[in-house]
Amino acid sequence: MSGAGIRIEGLRKRYGSGDTAVDALKQVDMSVAPGEVVGLIGPSGSGKSTLLKCLGAVIEPTAGRMMLGEHTIYDDGWRVRDLRALRRDRIGFVFQAPYLIPFLDVTDNVALPPMLAGVPNAEARRRALGLLDALEVRHRAAAMPAQLSGGEQQRVAIARGLVNRPPVILADEPTAPLDSARALAVIRILNEMARRYRTAVIVVTHDEKIIPTFARIYHIRDGVTQEERGEGRSIG
Ligand SMILES: Nc1ncnc2c1ncn2[C@@H]1O[C@H](COP(=O)(O)OP(=O)(O)O)[C@@H](O)[C@H]1O
Ligand SMILES: [Mg+2]
Repeated sequence: MSGAGIRIEGLRKRYGSGDTAVDALKQVDMSVAPGEVVGLIGPSGSGKSTLLKCLGAVIEPTAGRMMLGEHTIYDDGWRVRDLRALRRDRIGFVFQAPYLIPFLDVTDNVALPPMLAGVPNAEARRRALGLLDALEVRHRAAAMPAQLSGGEQQRVAIARGLVNRPPVILADEPTAPLDSARALAVIRILNEMARRYRTAVIVVTHDEKIIPTFARIYHIRDGVTQEERGEGRSIG
């Protein structure tokens, strides 16, 4: 399924029911080609996190369709038997707050996902160190998470989201705590990963520094998406 790309059609999500129901997603249509990085932008409460959680099979949509490559994963109901395996093997999450494991050092935090997927320890650690290097935190490889700055923790969390080379990466405000140079470095790495491994990447962001780097942007407002051409400005 590597190099799969994403297609979403008519996706809807309602939280709750009756008088207190919230229609968080009303009409979401989106496609991300293998190797493409798209931005997802919208005001607070517009449905961005809900959309990423549906796509990441963390919550169940109410209606519509989601495809990974040729595989239908949701069509008015899940079409995948093992959702946990889908999340573990196909989706890389990069969350706003970095959830690192406090009793593992930086290298092991990043090496853990490939180890869990059966990659030999030495190879998993090699991959981890390569990504830590690219994200400019290799010098912290032996540190514990609590010893890192917020920006360092975020870069380690990003390395962990990328390390299994999933065909889909979902990033929720990945550059929020980073300075301009490091934010652009993160976007450069996401673009490199996307190109090299044919990954489809969705980046939720408000970050003015990185918005000009997207070739395509989806705006979401009140649970409805709309596509727009971006500037696709080179990030060297
Ligand atoms: N678990 C939940 N139960 C009920 N309503 C929710 C839940 N999560 C989010 N919402 C509502 O759904 C809407 C979209 O939320 P969210 O996807 O978090 O937006 P964003 O990430 O764009 O800020 C908001 O009105 C929010 O209050
Ligand atoms: Mg959100």
